[in-house]
Amino acid sequence: MRVQLTETVLRDANQSLMATRLPYADFEEILSTMDKAGYYSVECWGGATFDSCLRYLNEDPWERLRGIREHMPNTKLQMLLRGQNLLGYNHYHDDVVEKFVELSIKNGIDILRIFDALNDFRNIKTALEATKKYATANTVASGCISYTQSPVHTVAKYVEMCKELKAMGFDTICLKDMAGTMSPWEAENLIKGIKDAVGDMPLILHTHCTTGMAYQTVTKAVESGIDVIDTATSCFSNGTSQPATETMYYALSQYGIDTGLNEKVLNKVNDFFKPVKQKYIDDGTLNPKSMGTDAQALVYKVPGGMLSNMIANLTDMDAMDKFDEALAEIPAVRKDMGYPPLVTPLSQMVGNQAVTNVLMGERYKMISNEVKNYFKGQYGIAPAPVDKELESRILAEADMKAPVDCRIEDAKRTGEDFAKAKEALGELARSEEDVMSYICFPKQAQDYFEARKAKEERSCKYTMEAVEE
Ligand code: CO
Repeated sequence: MRVQLTETVLRDANQSLMATRLPYADFEEILSTMDKAGYYSVECWGGATFDSCLRYLNEDPWERLRGIREHMPNTKLQMLLRGQNLLGYNHYHDDVVEKFVELSIKNGIDILRIFDALNDFRNIKTALEATKKYATANTVASGCISYTQSPVHTVAKYVEMCKELKAMGFDTICLKDMAGTMSPWEAENLIKGIKDAVGDMPLILHTHCTTGMAYQTVTKAVESGIDVIDTATSCFSNGTSQPATETMYYALSQYGIDTGLNEKVLNKVNDFFKPVKQKYIDDGTLNPKSMGTDAQALVYKVPGGMLSNMIANLTDMDAMDKFDEALAEIPAVRKDMGYPPLVTPLSQMVGNQAVTNVLMGERYKMISNEVKNYFKGQYGIAPAPVDKELESRILAEADMKAPVDCRIEDAKRTGEDFAKAKEALGELARSEEDVMSYICFPKQAQDYFEARKAKEERSCKYTMEAVEE
């Protein structure tokens, strides 16, 4: 029996434990060693890494990817892509999505794990087609399901989703349990159901240790036939991150399960990251709170990050006495919105609306623009029917008879977005990758390009002076 492991230290562990603040320079040295570990893949790009590189680390995300590729020629490099949102928070036009996928593959990505917050698979179709169009021999298109619990999210529904992903042409399927609320029992039922229906498709489980259940869930998933699990090198594991790589390797080996991993290399990787982690604990980037276990999420079915956000907001507003009420309002808002999975950007939208409803003392007295846009159909189709009264009110306010189909706007391929961004950047843009960074994060990219230019002018001047000496 074979189960393979994806190492997440460079992306999700970095994102979950230390808000994606790990600079490339901190891990470059270990990449060639990681290349010998025998991982199924290394998740190293996408998610928040792109934004964080430009916004906080003064790094070119594309250069980071090319660096990792150069030092890891033998390992599959994996990214997380938010479908039609790419790595941002709005929908982009199809031609932009296609260009982004083309450049991701060109710069070194092998596995594109593609998801949509609502599991509206129309929103991942363009990214899939682009992946197929620009695929190399190593490219894998992984269709990803945002896992959540609700009265409409049954095993049967997830099995249907998997059949749909298979029919669309994905190579593998990933179950993404971002909140870490999938129990061992749920994992068993789900995986058995999925394997019965689409047994020939490799199945991947991505979960988080947030609630303390991940090791049991992953072990049950292995017993139920999972093909790949996501883990993080032990010093960057647990808490809001993934289960530990070496621990899972050890446990699986005793069962005689072949992981293809090299134990010595795994230990070297962890030895390397230990002082890196300590540095960020010491300077406060890595909050020890994120390394603990928080079972509250099991009661309220909300991701840990959403709870800590809510506590921070209510504390700011001196309204922590409303916490229990706001918490109870989350499932009610979620029901009104047709039970969306609580993942970016829906987790923020639902959380903020619940807090607003409670603080205003009247439900939906104030509605955020994002929630209005959701009801107007701009994010896609909700998993279940939304509250009709609320929908009519929002549509009437906007003089609309029915929600729009987001695909009508998204499908426009005018080439204008790219051309306009190129023109706006002028000589600051040196490549198609630069233009794409600007389309995704205009302000952050422009700041980065200007800083890059200024730095080069300084070093150029320095060289000139040195020559004249
Ligand atoms: Co995750």
